[in-house]
Amino acid sequence: MGLAEDLNALKEEGLALISAAGDEASLEEARIALLGRNGRVKDLQKAFGQASPEEKRELGRLFNEVQQAIKSAFEDQKDQLSAGAADAGAIDVTEPRPTHRRGSIHPISQVAQEVERVFSGMGYDIIDGPHIEEDEFNFGRLNIPEDHPARDAQDTFWLKTGKLLRTHTSSVQSRTYPIVEPPFRKVVVGKVFRYEEVDATHDNNFTQVEGFLVDKDITVGHLVGTIKTMIAAVLQRDDIEVRLRPSFFPFVEPGFEVDVRSPGSSGKFANWVELLGCGMIHPKVLSIGGIDPDVYTGFAFGMGLERLTMIRHDINDIRLFNGGDLRGLHQFKS
Ligand code: PHE
Repeated sequence: MGLAEDLNALKEEGLALISAAGDEASLEEARIALLGRNGRVKDLQKAFGQASPEEKRELGRLFNEVQQAIKSAFEDQKDQLSAGAADAGAIDVTEPRPTHRRGSIHPISQVAQEVERVFSGMGYDIIDGPHIEEDEFNFGRLNIPEDHPARDAQDTFWLKTGKLLRTHTSSVQSRTYPIVEPPFRKVVVGKVFRYEEVDATHDNNFTQVEGFLVDKDITVGHLVGTIKTMIAAVLQRDDIEVRLRPSFFPFVEPGFEVDVRSPGSSGKFANWVELLGCGMIHPKVLSIGGIDPDVYTGFAFGMGLERLTMIRHDINDIRLFNGGDLRGLHQFKS
C-alpha cells in the first residue's frame, strides 16, 4: 500500500476509534494508540521521513491534514465527554422521585404463617430448633443408625466441628422429648439443608413443617384428621382427600407417605400429589426421649413447604424462592 492510502486509512480508523470512546479511559487508550510515542501517527511520520523529496512535496499537505483531523477529533471528544459528566452530576429538580417500593412477605413465609395459625388453633405450641445440629439429635435419637444412608456425605452438609446442618426438622422432635411432659402438641416451621444439586425441583435448602403430638390412645386416625385439616386450610378448600401409602422412616412405626388431592380443583391438586412423610412415633424414639411408650403414643409428620406453595401458586421453578429476583417474589403480595 502506498503512503497516501495509509494516511487515508489512518484518518478513517482514527476518527472512528475516537468517536467510539465512550469514557475518559477509552479515549486515553485511543490517544495513546494514535498519537502516543509508539502510536500510528508516529509510525507514519517515520515512513514519511524516508519518502523521496518528490513524495514529500506531494503528500505533505495530506499528512498535516490527517494529523490535524485526529488531534481536533480527540479534543472535541474530550470536551463532549466532560460536558456529559457534568450533566450527569447536575441535579434535575423537576425529575419525578422514584416511588417507594412496598416490600412483601415471601410466599413461603406466607404459607408458613398460615400453617402456624392453623396449628395454634388446634392447640399446638409453635417451637423452633437450631439449624446447626448435632449428629445425636438429627440422627441418633431418631433411631437412625450409623450406617443409615441418610447420614451419607452425599445428603448432609457436615461442618468441620463434626456438627451438621439439620437435614430435617425431625431433629426438633428429639430435642423436645427430653424436656417436656406428655401430653403435648408441637409444630416447627424451619429451614433444612441437603447436599443436593440445585435444579427446578430441588434446592439445597428448603422449608419443612414438622408436627408431633404425644398423648394417650393416639391413633393413625388422629394423624389423618390433622393432616387433612392442615392441607384444607392452606389450600383453602374443603374437598381435600388424603391417601396413605406405607413407607419407611426409622423414627416412625408404622410410617406412611401421604398423597393429597382435591377432586373439585382444576389445578394440579385434581390428581394425587405426594406431599409428606409421617407415622406413629417409634416406641424407641419415645423411650430414648424419656417418654414411656407403654403409656403414651403419638404421631409425627414432616412436609416440605416449597412443594405445596409451588402447586398452590402454579410456580414451576423452586429457584424462584431463594433466587433473589424480586420481580418473581413481588407477584405474591399478600
Ligand atoms: N423427616 C422426614 C423427612 O425429612 C419426614 C418425616 C417427619 C417422616 C416425621 C415421618 C415423620 O423426609
